Amino acid sequence: MSNRIVIFDTTLRDGEQCPGASMNIREKMEVAHQLAELGVDVIEAGFPVISDGDFDAVTRIATEVKGPAICGLARCVPGDIDAAGAAVKAAGDRGRIHVFLATSKIHRDFKLKKANEEILRMAVEGVTRARGLVKDVEFSPEDASRTEPEFLAQITQAVIAAGAKTVNIPDTVGYATPDQFGSLIRYLFDNVKNIDDAIISVHCHNDLGLAVANSLAAIQAGARQVEGTINGIGERAGNAALEEVIMALQTRPDIYPELASNIRHAEIVKTSRLVSRMSSFLIQRNKAIVGENAFAHSAGIHQDGILKKRETYEIMDPKLIGWGETELPLTKHSGRHAVVIRLKHLGYHLSDAEIDSIFKRFKDIGDRKKFVYDDDLAALVDDAMDRDHEVYALDYMHVTTGTSMIPTATVRLKRGEETFEDSSPGNGAVDAAMKCIDRLLDKRGHLAEYQVMAATGGKDALGEVTIKVDFGIGEVITGRGASTDVIEASARAYLNAVNRVIFMEAQAAARPASHPRVEVESTV
Ligand code: KIV
Ligand code: ZN
Repeated sequence: MSNRIVIFDTTLRDGEQCPGASMNIREKMEVAHQLAELGVDVIEAGFPVISDGDFDAVTRIATEVKGPAICGLARCVPGDIDAAGAAVKAAGDRGRIHVFLATSKIHRDFKLKKANEEILRMAVEGVTRARGLVKDVEFSPEDASRTEPEFLAQITQAVIAAGAKTVNIPDTVGYATPDQFGSLIRYLFDNVKNIDDAIISVHCHNDLGLAVANSLAAIQAGARQVEGTINGIGERAGNAALEEVIMALQTRPDIYPELASNIRHAEIVKTSRLVSRMSSFLIQRNKAIVGENAFAHSAGIHQDGILKKRETYEIMDPKLIGWGETELPLTKHSGRHAVVIRLKHLGYHLSDAEIDSIFKRFKDIGDRKKFVYDDDLAALVDDAMDRDHEVYALDYMHVTTGTSMIPTATVRLKRGEETFEDSSPGNGAVDAAMKCIDRLLDKRGHLAEYQVMAATGGKDALGEVTIKVDFGIGEVITGRGASTDVIEASARAYLNAVNRVIFMEAQAAARPASHPRVEVESTV
């Protein structure tokens, strides 16, 4: 059995699929480039048939991101498989199609309404069709952990014979426990005759908080591909957090002897932060490996022990995973080159136009605050990166507010050379600014979530506002904005969300009627 663990990242598919973590194509590209820097072996870049956006994202990632295999997900139906094949084509031999079909009795009886023989036939046909398009095909029997082991073994054997190079065993609903899941993998090794012709993979969800434990149990039982997401984002309680699996393997060679992956551990923290920013999904402070508190020692006894010998209370060296890399802050005197170097260091791949726009905002902020830290800069990037979607820009804003007056906002927006200006009262300064934007652009957004965070410490810190807005279009839109003034940051965030909606509406209007969005009724 090989000692190499294949790291399969599904942040951009299963991770992005969870409510509140959706990313636009620009954000997905940043994440994909950084995943390649991290050294993952496979990037599952999306579910191409599900929307034009997913198709385009998979195609662009397959075209531009070098290194990892690029994978597209497909149900076991010809249209899905062909779309996935077309989307990963640009990756050449690095293109992978991941076909899935539910196999558990509950899914067979109630969701698919199909007998075992038909499921078996569809799985084999799906894999055969995918093999006609790419060499690298993965098959997943969805809800494998609740599938009868005999049937699971039968279908695994059949899809390997049909050409699947990887068979992934998903714990789709996070039902498994480590001992049981490990035994299931062992059962497959004992009962599938051709199992050595494929890599056995695992894909665990975290409904019982066991996704990482189950993944590790499967690895001990012989699985050699592990699927998960950065920061554990994903459907419901999320997927196995890849950084946790990777660091468990790295920290406990006594338990997982000689297992090697291609991961560059020093990129872990950078990747985690980038994913958090791009998905607007915050990392809990006490999250293992990448949370703010993961290496913070507050108890006096612990601090004393650490000073005497780090290993007394630290089982991993935080520097090895990229903690503590902050450099000297920039100031308003820093030049473009210094800013470019910091941006690269933060993991961004930006165009010249984006850098110009960030540099301009950096100079504005530099006038307002003494030091511009990495986190300030990252907040500015989020603000500037969405320019593709920017139809209207904030040109000017003035807000009057106080304890004994009606808050009123005056906002001027720009579209090209045209300007639009109006005023609105509101129930607070933020409300007034957002209502004014609504008036100007004839929109009615309902604020579903509002978060404000200081990018760094200090009273002059940049305030980063992340909002979720419901415009009644069937999906909640995320908007982000940053400024040393939180009212301005809120207005920027709201305008960012409005711009996204306007962009989406324009795209939908331009889409040919023959290319409708596909409704995928299966839970994946
Ligand atoms: O959770 C799941 O079963 C999936 C499959 C598509 C692998 O995401
Ligand atoms: Zn999943």
